[in-house]
Amino acid sequence: MASITIRNLNGKTKKWLRVRAAQNGRSMEEEARLLFDQLQADENSNIATPAESGPPISNASLQIEPVSMTGQTDEVAERLRGSIAGTGSEILAGKQVLLVITGGIAAYKCLEFIRRLRDRGASIKTVLTKSAAEFITPLSIGALTAERVYCDLFSRDDEHDVGHIRLSREADIIVVAPATANFMAKMAHGLADDLASTIMLATNKPVLLAPAMNPLMWQHPSTRRNRQILANDGLYIIGPGTGEMAESGESGTGRLLEPIEIVKAVEILLDDRPKPLAGMRAIVTSGPTREAIDPVRYLSNHSSGKQGHAIASALAHAGADVTLVSGPVSIPDPEYVSVVHVETAVEMKQAVDAALPADIAIFVAAVADWRPANSADDKIKKAKGEDAPAITLIENPDILKSIGTLNENRPALVIGFAAETRNLIKNGRAKLKRKGADWILANDVSADAGVMGGDLNTIRLISIDGIEEWPTAKKQQVASRLITKIVEFFEKESIEI
Ligand code: PMT
Repeated sequence: MASITIRNLNGKTKKWLRVRAAQNGRSMEEEARLLFDQLQADENSNIATPAESGPPISNASLQIEPVSMTGQTDEVAERLRGSIAGTGSEILAGKQVLLVITGGIAAYKCLEFIRRLRDRGASIKTVLTKSAAEFITPLSIGALTAERVYCDLFSRDDEHDVGHIRLSREADIIVVAPATANFMAKMAHGLADDLASTIMLATNKPVLLAPAMNPLMWQHPSTRRNRQILANDGLYIIGPGTGEMAESGESGTGRLLEPIEIVKAVEILLDDRPKPLAGMRAIVTSGPTREAIDPVRYLSNHSSGKQGHAIASALAHAGADVTLVSGPVSIPDPEYVSVVHVETAVEMKQAVDAALPADIAIFVAAVADWRPANSADDKIKKAKGEDAPAITLIENPDILKSIGTLNENRPALVIGFAAETRNLIKNGRAKLKRKGADWILANDVSADAGVMGGDLNTIRLISIDGIEEWPTAKKQQVASRLITKIVEFFEKESIEI
């Protein structure tokens, strides 16, 4: 495997890399490797490179990228990615981590993981499976953790007080890294034939898995099934990452994430500080509406709900009490959000009105501006020789405008979107004014942009203060960025009061 020699980079690039690495709490080599991994992963999806994407990765936009098996939003990833947590060592100070190392070549990365956890004030107990001990020695682990390393279920020293139960309960969190395909299979099926797997059955603590294996093993239907079972059982799964494998000439998805990424996930899961939007109520609309022509036909659009659902999820993870009013979409409901399912614009308005009062209202739904004046009770029949039926349209209620211009009960922050195919800024500004919104997030929805229904979005945030240009990013990242702005807005407001 080729190694990266930082020395050979030019001075300016070296400096830039040093600053980025420091900001992200990584070594320069790690930062460079991550950039390459990300570049490769992003090649097809045309995501802005980190250099273009503005602020350094913060926990608010933490990119933990489990591979979605279904092509749909990965709820576990959402839970981690959407979390708003502070950086900093204070979260892990005094916390106990039980690290279970299973047998894979990536086991060597645990040494770095342990070092970083200890730097942050955590104490670490380690369990090694028999096959892990083929890759890494209890001696090196013990030296780094300053604790004894546990390997044996039937140890005479530990089992006098049922040591496996004690180990599983003492810790604040259990991290399995690397988690092999074999260990995941054992866990998914509840096998307990050694110390590590017995602990997993006996624990009542959060469990974070960081899988690492050959890409074909990761893609294998049985591993996919097992992963789904484990996610359904409430385990947190991060990674694997994409890149070159230890096996010569092999690359793909299966690499253990970098130790710092696993540390950040642990920080998010153990962060019990108050959430920035705790105590606030939010309403989000998402998806398209369907306006019936007759019992089988309707007018609608290509909105998938991805952007609105990502925002609802991110708000919930920031502590807000969220009502999501969703038109018909095929993506799952986000976790920790009350979802009201509607079909038409009229129903959407009724659901929004019923959810008031709120502190924040965000209108992401692509609401049909018009609906057929009359929806036929029976399917409209095609009769020989007759002209095509004319559909008379009437205007739908403008939900954003009705909330933005409320005199009483108006949410403190009303945010609309503007879906435009031309004159983005001009039309966005006009909507800001006309609809009484505080901010308009204007996005280009022409077919070429692929925003409607796609995974990426490019936002121009328009307010009376001016225009902010956001780089192209995944819709979850757009959501994280919006939450950061919302938190700033309320912080500023409370200072001004
Ligand atoms: O769902 P995705 O596939 O992820 O795609 C996301 C998106 C492209 C739908 C989203 O980013 C977006 O642009 N949403 C706004 C869609 C829209 O209807 O825009 P508009 O410019 O027509 O409306 C302006 C604003 O008024 C929007 O906030 C809209 O929700 C709101 N509106 C419009 C009409 C209406 N009758 N009631 C409304 O509340």
